[in-house]
Amino acid sequence: MTGNWFGVLPLQGQVAVVTGGGTGIGRAIALALAGAGAKVVVASRNKEKLLRVCEEIKANGGESLAVRTDVTCQEDIDNLIAASCEAFERIDILVNNAGMAIPRTSALDVSRQDWEKILGVNLTAVFFVSQAAARVMAKNGGGRIVNITSIRGTNALPGITPYCTSKGAVMALTKALAVDLAQYNINVNAVAPGYVPTDMVAGLLADPDKTNFILERTPLHKMGTPEEVAAAVLYFCIPQASYTTGHTLVLDGGWSCY
Ligand SMILES: NC(=O)c1ccc[n+]([C@@H]2O[C@H](COP(=O)([O-])OP(=O)(O)OC[C@H]3O[C@@H](n4cnc5c(N)ncnc54)[C@H](OP(=O)(O)O)[C@@H]3O)[C@@H](O)[C@H]2O)c1
Repeated sequence: MTGNWFGVLPLQGQVAVVTGGGTGIGRAIALALAGAGAKVVVASRNKEKLLRVCEEIKANGGESLAVRTDVTCQEDIDNLIAASCEAFERIDILVNNAGMAIPRTSALDVSRQDWEKILGVNLTAVFFVSQAAARVMAKNGGGRIVNITSIRGTNALPGITPYCTSKGAVMALTKALAVDLAQYNINVNAVAPGYVPTDMVAGLLADPDKTNFILERTPLHKMGTPEEVAAAVLYFCIPQASYTTGHTLVLDGGWSCY
């Protein structure tokens, strides 16, 4: 199905795994994929939040599964993939959305522990969850991987060097995996949001001066919504996007244009 836009849910019969799917952007992605017909597996450390998203999906007539997962733990990754296959028999889509940031710290003061923690969640886990899912996708004839990166991967700010590094590396990883996994018919793309009000940036946005700076600095003078990020992810997953791979789609109200 690539030409018929009428009366068809574009992801009907597909199975999607969304890491960090219990909150913020991940929750919106899980709901969007389920709304497009996919069975959705949501994965993160807090199972209560995951189950709430599953309830929302069920209330809208969709199917889902919550799997408690720390993406930095290989045993948890293996369990996530096995549980997804056991419940729904395949994996067609993986969204690497789980991520973290730490309070602003000068590069002079970043500890090795914090560096490894951020790179572990935001970069290393993206690779190893992708590897595990891609092994299943390769056997099924292909799939789609979408990584959630950030404009901080291209446009740095002071005090968040590990975060900027991790997100920039995810853009490089997206291209490298796109090239490497193309032989298995697996497309790999990324979405790079600017500012989206979620728990991750709640502390920052609690400061009116910082919020005003962001709004003034952004050409469209607004922030994004989790649903807008979800719509970009959805594009990369639909059959009509089969020619798109290795691409990072920036959603930032024009911030990175100057
Ligand atoms: N909000 C923004 O302005 C913005 C901008 C650019 C990019 N992003 C990116 O968007 C993604 C989603 O962030 P968000 O804004 O929606 O913030 P959020 O609500 O804090 O979401 C982060 C998610 O990551 C999960 N997570 C963190 N560590 C994990 C681990 N070790 N294992 C499994 N899951 C883990 C959390 O779930 P648990 O706590 O349950 O594990 C949570 O659901 C992140 O990759 C972030 O870097 C956000």
